[in-house]
Amino acid sequence: MGRKFFVGGNWKCNGTSDEVKKIVSTLNAAEVPSEEVVEVVVSPPFVFLPLVKGLLRADFSVAAQNCWVRKGGAFTGEISAEMLVNLGIPWVIVGHSERRLILNEANEFVGDKVAYALSQGLKVIACVGETLEQRESGSTMEVVAAQTKAIAEKVSNWDHVVIAYEPVWAIGTGKVATPAQAQEVHFELRKWLAANVNPAVAESTRIIYGGSVNGANCKELASQPDVDGFLVGGASLKPEFVDIIKSAETNKAA
Ligand code: PGA
Repeated sequence: MGRKFFVGGNWKCNGTSDEVKKIVSTLNAAEVPSEEVVEVVVSPPFVFLPLVKGLLRADFSVAAQNCWVRKGGAFTGEISAEMLVNLGIPWVIVGHSERRLILNEANEFVGDKVAYALSQGLKVIACVGETLEQRESGSTMEVVAAQTKAIAEKVSNWDHVVIAYEPVWAIGTGKVATPAQAQEVHFELRKWLAANVNPAVAESTRIIYGGSVNGANCKELASQPDVDGFLVGGASLKPEFVDIIKSAETNKAA
């Protein structure tokens, strides 16, 4: 019944094939807690997915960083959920703030994407999070609840959904949320799920934190009761990602 710790590595738009191979060999050589304790998923750019899937140790999985909102077809430049399934890619990240803000993906669009990806058999890391302005104006929970609601309206089975709470002001800035700030939003999100979906889903759905997580700050964050793992950007390209995976042990002990 416990929520298994989840560590995702979001490589974003980084890497050459040589660099990608190097990261994978570091991961393959790492000693990490067992699959019973932690689920590890790395998300390379689309073009490297088959390479990484082919080389990566069997106890880690891969995720795409996005997919098209519906069935594929005449959508130049897009990658469909069907294609990911066809390549045996089990996970997809949906609604990352870089896509919401730079590519104008609206809440409803993200909700549709989550639902379609799930309908095709993918597992989804669905991202939510407020900007600095929204936090400073006191609307963090309102924003995060609206983003989650747009997903909840389209999703009936939450078994294959992980929610990533990623405050925009913490992403790539080195300005990590404090453990108390992360815990507060995760707790409120779980309360929102209990009230608006149901208590069982609130209890079982993993809510992971993202935004400047690194080898030094992960343990304290991992010890928070409602922090069920991480989505890691910059540090997932470095050997310290292994330390972040190991922070699962801290969570277990908590
Ligand atoms: P960061 O990115 O760890 O580099 O802040 C996190 C993310 O965007 O998922």
